[in-house]
Amino acid sequence: MARGAERRYGEKMARFRHHVFVCENRRPEDDPRGCCACRGSLEVRAALKAELGRRGLKGIVRANASGCLDACAYGPSLVVYPEGVWYGHVTPADVPEIVERHLVGGEPVERLLIHRFMERGPGQPGPGGPPAS
Ligand code: FES
Repeated sequence: MARGAERRYGEKMARFRHHVFVCENRRPEDDPRGCCACRGSLEVRAALKAELGRRGLKGIVRANASGCLDACAYGPSLVVYPEGVWYGHVTPADVPEIVERHLVGGEPVERLLIHRFMERGPGQPGPGGPPAS
């Protein structure tokens, strides 16, 4: 690595202002854990992508499908980085509010937050810490 390269790397701007991961994990119908896809997460991400396009945020906010986020009981669930803000029981109807208030305005949508995930710190099990074994 060239001298000073580490510093320059740390000073680079993030490629996206926000990265939103929407769980699209699907399990069999009889799985007691349920799944986000079974509860409509594909429609949530489709609504999110459409809203980002409508608001001119394509290339600024990225909406990616993810596998299980270990938040199955709250599905459809999603997480917004870099803040690490978790949302649960999200419907397509909630998407414009998440975009307007959080992704544009910087204020998380309180009524949809999964508070217990954001209270955990590094080194503790579950989201926010290392993967549960
Ligand atoms: S199935 Fe979506 S968080 Fe686990």
